[in-house]
Amino acid sequence: MKFLVVGGAGYIGSHMVKHLIAAGHEVVVADLVAPAPGVQWAKLDIADEAALDVLFGVCRFDAVFHFASFIQVGESVSAPGKYYQNNVAATLSLLQAMVNAGIKHLVFSSSAAVYGNPLYIPIDEAHAKGPINPYGLSKWMVEQILEDFDRAYGLKSVCLRYFNAAGADPEGQLGERHEPETHLIPLILQAAAGRREAVTVFGRDYDTPDGTCIRDYIHVADLATAHALAVDYLLAGGERTAFNLGNGHGFSVQQVIDIARAVTGRQIHVLDAPRRAGDPPRLVADAGKALSVLSWRPEFVSLEQIVRHAWHWELQYPWTTRQG
Ligand code: UFG
Repeated sequence: MKFLVVGGAGYIGSHMVKHLIAAGHEVVVADLVAPAPGVQWAKLDIADEAALDVLFGVCRFDAVFHFASFIQVGESVSAPGKYYQNNVAATLSLLQAMVNAGIKHLVFSSSAAVYGNPLYIPIDEAHAKGPINPYGLSKWMVEQILEDFDRAYGLKSVCLRYFNAAGADPEGQLGERHEPETHLIPLILQAAAGRREAVTVFGRDYDTPDGTCIRDYIHVADLATAHALAVDYLLAGGERTAFNLGNGHGFSVQQVIDIARAVTGRQIHVLDAPRRAGDPPRLVADAGKALSVLSWRPEFVSLEQIVRHAWHWELQYPWTTRQG
């Protein structure tokens, strides 16, 4: 098969590209940043529909994976226009170009953020949608747009609602690096590696056993597997749908720090700070639908293993400067 991976140079997209190439598919990455060496690269902004028309005129894709988005919840509150422009308007341009070219299959990176503050745990796909920030709303808007594009143009999509993507390529070639970094596990490991003075815990007064927030961490390689199954599902004639992707197990911020101490054998200094705005106390997935419909079986379900892979990547990352 021939696939376009939009955002294929990013954290999750790069793992997807590796997975697809290993499975024998032809892959082109659309990104403004260069993908891994040797990967075919269309350097373009998906907001540029004319550039996409040219690409789609040259390459006949069986499906598109769309990973490109801004992901910082806090920034989305202070700069909503940036999020709606990039995550919604640019996606609309991609969808229109797909319609122009007759490409009928899309796997879209959505988020647990579409649910907002959970009304019950674990969260299944039928849970009410109530995003509490522009980031989550941007993902939910695209999901709704996809419904209309299915109805009008027969564009079939699977929206994958990630919980907390974490870990790194088990073979050590790829890993997580955001600039600036806001995600818990890389921040903890940067503190363990001495690249940061400390990690800050945002709130110890939540209604959870140890008072810190609980999240469902899902290995990035297992996310890639789910995307591959999702595209198979679409190409086999599957209807538009959405799946939660998580392990169904919650770990608190303090538990993640404790596991990281055990995995790294390093000191990790911790500072306490007030709650971060917009953090729900507990987010845990019910991923039963992906398990039953896609036969998805996450492989790296232990948080220790997830952190070990991330640590392996952190240790080999060629940074010498201290950050933050
Ligand atoms: N946290 C800290 N200190 C930090 C960073 C995070 O205590 O320095 C805490 C947060 O308060 C949260 C947990 O660690 O309770 C995880 O935080 P992350 O920023 O790693 O992840 P989030 O749960 O906030 O966000 C993730 C994705 C978002 C997505 C969201 C909901 O990164 O893109 O899940 O789906 F919107």
